[in-house]
Amino acid sequence: MAISNKIKGFMGQSSWIRKMFEEGDKLKKQYGADQVYDFSLGNPNIDPPDCFQEHLTRIVGMDTPGRHAYMPNAGYPETRAAVAAFLGQGHDVALSADHILMTCGAGGALNVILKTLLDPGEEVLTPAPFFVEYRFYADNAGGVLKTVKTNEDFSLDLAAMAEAINDKTKVVLINSPNNPTGKVYDEATIRKLAALMEEKGKALGKIIYLVSDEPYGEIVYDGVQVPSILKAYANSVIATSYSKSLSLPGERIGFIAVNPRILEIDDVINGMVLCNRILGFVNAPALMQRVIAGIQGMRVDVSEYQRKRDLLCDGLAAGGYDFQKPEGAFYLFPKSPIPDDVAFVKALQKRRILTVPGSGFGGPGHFRIAYCVDDRTIINAMDGFVETMKEFRK
Ligand SMILES: Cc1ncc(COP(=O)(O)O)c(C=O)c1O
Repeated sequence: MAISNKIKGFMGQSSWIRKMFEEGDKLKKQYGADQVYDFSLGNPNIDPPDCFQEHLTRIVGMDTPGRHAYMPNAGYPETRAAVAAFLGQGHDVALSADHILMTCGAGGALNVILKTLLDPGEEVLTPAPFFVEYRFYADNAGGVLKTVKTNEDFSLDLAAMAEAINDKTKVVLINSPNNPTGKVYDEATIRKLAALMEEKGKALGKIIYLVSDEPYGEIVYDGVQVPSILKAYANSVIATSYSKSLSLPGERIGFIAVNPRILEIDDVINGMVLCNRILGFVNAPALMQRVIAGIQGMRVDVSEYQRKRDLLCDGLAAGGYDFQKPEGAFYLFPKSPIPDDVAFVKALQKRRILTVPGSGFGGPGHFRIAYCVDDRTIINAMDGFVETMKEFRK
């Protein structure tokens, strides 16, 4: 075989979203793009705010010396200082440029963090359902991803987490607001998780790191707050990006924020800087670093996503679907009316509605609808959703 057995196997495991994408492409060619309701990808459909374009244009026109040159692997000091100032204010934690490392999106950030922290065979625990790439990211760093079940409403099951932590556990990886469920963990839960990790770490005589993947941190509804993990737990780091908050996923710009209270902080930060380099990222894109430094605190109009969420939830509830209303991100994770979520997704596909089976996210019996789409797509797909449910409820 030309490619490694491992990657061949991974290609099989990661094929759900790709399969839907290919299927969608076929259907679009057959029926026309406006006749296919594609909810398969988390690709934001809202444009970046105007301030982004204005600032980008201004920066591109500036004749800054060395603007295309290599830079420190952690990123431009001015960008890191701007990120630290804004983030520190939000978390009410004193952060400086030294605590920030600019990365190629949240995906780049997670790979850098895991490569820095994991020894071969060490475990990363994550609540399921989860973002599918985590399994590959853990493997990239020689680690192993283990999943922990969540409660019926997708909140953390702390008893299950307590049971799962063992002497191989190095990292607990959480994602809130969550892809694929839209769940946001509340402050009391985060506090309890921190206390549990502290207690387990002491009992096992080791540090267990809390890694919080927060690319949807700015996309929350109904006044819900994302609690600060930097305040809750000393040995914590944040991985995030501007992919969703500014609708810039193609620009690959994000960062890591390291808790100033983390143990052996110099090693942690210097290790991450080295990993950013040796993973081949070298540094985050220069132009984007210069742009985002000047537009800290700006974001897309979140009320647009909230409107889409409500449109979708109201229609599906009336059609008999059972789901937890998302508190953030732009995904809905309803129950499939039959245990076989793949069969239900195929039935939706017959009505040219593209979603992703929950099995692909470690959440069987559910399916994911990415509602970062035109309102028209939601409105026009609704009859198909309702009719498909009727077929299975007969
Ligand atoms: C939960 C989660 N983490 C990380 C990422 C990767 O984000 P980025 O595009 O910033 O690398 C995504 C992207 O969809 C995501 O949903």
